[in-house]
Amino acid sequence: MFITLEGSEGAGKSTLIEHLKKYFLNKKIEFIFTKEPGATAEGAELRKILLDKTIELDSLSETFLLLADRLEHVRKIINPALEENKIVLSDRYLDSTYAYQGAGREINKDELDRFIKPLNFPEPDLTIYLDLPVDEGLKRAQGRDKLDRFEEEEIDFFERIRNAYLKLAKENSHRIFTIDSTNSETKVFELARDCIEKKLNES
Ligand code: TYD
Repeated sequence: MFITLEGSEGAGKSTLIEHLKKYFLNKKIEFIFTKEPGATAEGAELRKILLDKTIELDSLSETFLLLADRLEHVRKIINPALEENKIVLSDRYLDSTYAYQGAGREINKDELDRFIKPLNFPEPDLTIYLDLPVDEGLKRAQGRDKLDRFEEEEIDFFERIRNAYLKLAKENSHRIFTIDSTNSETKVFELARDCIEKKLNES
């Protein structure tokens, strides 16, 4: 089963991931944890460019680097693990590109689809989207390490991203489960766990 986690800055993905890892280990469920960008050695090099704020990238170049990272990720990590029937838990995946490059960088959806569709990336069975008002997320993210190329953006960029995620969740309700991230850490985990258990029982 392929599970992805999505959300914008400060939405609490890292905390949820720690809870989910413990949960899978306790339950002795075989899983791999992975992330984008930068899960493969090749992707780690692409990630350096993507996050480096001294590098100015055209939005389409940024997209192509992210797609190259994803192609390496899918071929070398995701597909082999799915073939072994493992649970794959990925911190960010395809929806990030529609939200950040589509809405954030304002690349038209048809244009994005033109580049993405031929790559035949597998669709997640379940996507957990952690939703948080933008000002709240940015407040939480402040005071962490220095800002990267994305975190430096204006508030409007993040508003567009949040709206895009909410729209994606509406249009893909068969796989995207939204969790209100203003809930407590425990509640967010419990909601995610219940949803994963339900999917596991269905499959
Ligand atoms: P990262 O440090 O992994 O942060 P986060 O905790 O927010 O996941 O940074 C990854 C950044 O890359 C993040 O700001 C979102 C961005 N990104 C895109 O813009 N498009 C994508 O398709 C992906 C996978 C990530």
